[in-house]
Amino acid sequence: MTGKATAVARANIALAKYWGKSDETLNLPAVPSVSMTLAPMRTETVVTLEPKLEHDVFELDGARASDKESARVAVMLAEIRDEARDHTHAHVASRNFFPTAGGLASSASGFAALASAARSAYGLPRDDRRASILARRASASAARSIFGGWVELPAGARGDDSLAAYPLFGEDHWDLRLVVAVITEGRKDVSSRDGMGISRRTSPYYDAWVEQSPRIAGTIREGLSKRDLAMLGHATEQSFTAMHALAFASSPFTLYFQPGSLAALSTVRRLRDVQGISVFATMDAGPHVKALCHAGDVEHVAEALAQTTGVLRTIVADPGPGVELE
Ligand code: ADP
Ligand code: DP6
Repeated sequence: MTGKATAVARANIALAKYWGKSDETLNLPAVPSVSMTLAPMRTETVVTLEPKLEHDVFELDGARASDKESARVAVMLAEIRDEARDHTHAHVASRNFFPTAGGLASSASGFAALASAARSAYGLPRDDRRASILARRASASAARSIFGGWVELPAGARGDDSLAAYPLFGEDHWDLRLVVAVITEGRKDVSSRDGMGISRRTSPYYDAWVEQSPRIAGTIREGLSKRDLAMLGHATEQSFTAMHALAFASSPFTLYFQPGSLAALSTVRRLRDVQGISVFATMDAGPHVKALCHAGDVEHVAEALAQTTGVLRTIVADPGPGVELE
């Protein structure tokens, strides 16, 4: 029998950031994170079992993937094969409908789509919790992309391989928008994985970050629950500024900002402080600035960011659904 399945997953953006691991072997986060799933940032992955293959084959964006990228896919497939007790190898074809490896979380949507499609192709019943655990092992932020809307991944206790994300609120809970101000089109310099490892090992602020993160995540959860953008937004800014401060203070210093990032952050502050628009910024392990605002303000915010020096273009995202499986 030849199994085949297709899954579509979306990238997500963390409002409360995951940065630092409690267990590197099991890939468990040291802090809780809370994210928004992004409707337009789609990955589609097709997994086909092929009895003639002697090893897994991975095609990304229409070309054979690198050995490193293929190895990450093969590790997940091996775990699924063990559970399914089926040792057939698979052909995986995936396409990201936004830039790959550019700081826009293609790894999150990519591993969420792969976990779901591969489980289904190997005949396992749909189980989003198990798919989230698999995705988390590959890349912890991917655990959140299994679910739609607003999603939490708790901190993991060392040795606890059962950690999965879960949805806090559905995609219709609140009509917010995220505007991505794209600063570069290239691949990022220091991966999240490397950056957070350097922070954990060398930053003098790491312990304070781990201690303070649950409180920040709690305020973010409360802001979401009350649909209070000021509460949500200030805590979102605290999470990203604390994350970048500890990364910057590590040795060697890890700096994701570029001149365009600073200009875009100034634009967000000006929109808020001078024009009275409720808009808040966040950044990940790359130079892009992401601005969170009400749907009614999104055109104005996107226009102001698009006109900012150093911003190449903008992408507007609304809250998106969880994994869709065919
Ligand atoms: P990003 O910010 O886009 O997540 P990363 O450098 O963190 O950038 O992750 C990119 C890596 O994630 C790729 O090199 C590849 O290993 C993996 N990846 C990206 N897209 C996919 C996909 N669709 N399927 C499987 N793996 C993917
Ligand atoms: C800044 O999930 O990419 O985007 O688990 O090592 O693969 P690994 O790291 P990854 O880190 C994401 C870091 C972040 C914040 C976040 O998404 O929570």
